[in-house]
Amino acid sequence: MVVLVTGGAGYIGSHTVVELLNAGHEVLIVDDLSNAKAEVVDRIETITGKRPRFCQADCADKTAMEQIFAANQVDAVIHFAALKAVGESVKKPLSYYRNNLDSAMTMLEVMEEFGCKKFVFSSSATVYGPNNPYPYKEEMKAIESSSPYGWTKVMIERILTDYCTAHPDFCAILLRYFNPIGAHESGLLGDDPNGIPNNLMPYIGRVAAGKLEKLTIFGGDYDTPDGTCQRDYLHVVDLAVGHLKALEFAAGFTGVEAINLGTGSGISVLELVTAFEKANSMKLPYVIGPRRDGDLPAFWADASKAKELLGWEATHTVEDMCRSAWNFAKKSS
Ligand code: UFG
Repeated sequence: MVVLVTGGAGYIGSHTVVELLNAGHEVLIVDDLSNAKAEVVDRIETITGKRPRFCQADCADKTAMEQIFAANQVDAVIHFAALKAVGESVKKPLSYYRNNLDSAMTMLEVMEEFGCKKFVFSSSATVYGPNNPYPYKEEMKAIESSSPYGWTKVMIERILTDYCTAHPDFCAILLRYFNPIGAHESGLLGDDPNGIPNNLMPYIGRVAAGKLEKLTIFGGDYDTPDGTCQRDYLHVVDLAVGHLKALEFAAGFTGVEAINLGTGSGISVLELVTAFEKANSMKLPYVIGPRRDGDLPAFWADASKAKELLGWEATHTVEDMCRSAWNFAKKSS
């Protein structure tokens, strides 16, 4: 299959491209490199022995997308490209709505023009919003969010659902990710955000590398066993394999299907810090600080639908996640 991967030079995208190439698919990456580096394409080639096609473009640029579809027989699209910083989205809602909605809709319009009918969407557990009990199940109805970033995921899920109603031969798989962490075992690919990281694991990596002084744990007084927030952390390679499975499922499916990709259990920030220290034989300086606005105390996935429909389940341990994250962070520091 020829798979167009938007945002394919990014953290989850690049790991997914590796799995696609290893499974024998042809890959065309479209990435504007606004939050990724061109050398990722070389690294993917080093890992897989195959060079994906690469086009530096914004997928909201309709003319550029039409040129790409005209020059390539694209069988399916995996759409990662998006702005993704929750806090920034609160400060710049218009740019998040404009960018994320435009790129998804442009991609759909161009797919329609060229008869491409398989779409795998990078959604998020954030669509379960603040009011659902966990573990989160796909059939939960209160789909909402607490940030403009999260609302773009809710809205694109809605757009895809309506599009599938209007086009019964189209297939949209909405993959709702929990908290991906870790890195490729080669140490060549990982989560390396520009500037000071917002997410926990890249922050921990920079503290471990001595680039940041200490970790601040946001809140120690939550109603959880140790007072810190609990999340469903999953290895990014497991998440990437989930995309491959979703693509295989999509090949024989029409309609819309939301699927959680998580391990099905939660661990706390403190537990993750302790696991990182143990896996990498080091001490991490940290302090407990105030809560971060918008954080939920705890949530994790009901991961049974992914197992039933895709035959997918997470296989990596928290130790694997911590070891690979540090292997990447120390090489990139
Ligand atoms: N945390 C800290 N210190 C930090 C960074 C994070 O204590 O420096 C804590 C947070 O308070 C939270 C946990 O670590 O309890 C995880 O935080 P992340 O920022 O890594 O992840 P979130 O759960 O906040 O957000 C993730 C994705 C979002 C997605 C959201 C809901 O990054 O894209 O899950 O699914 F919207």
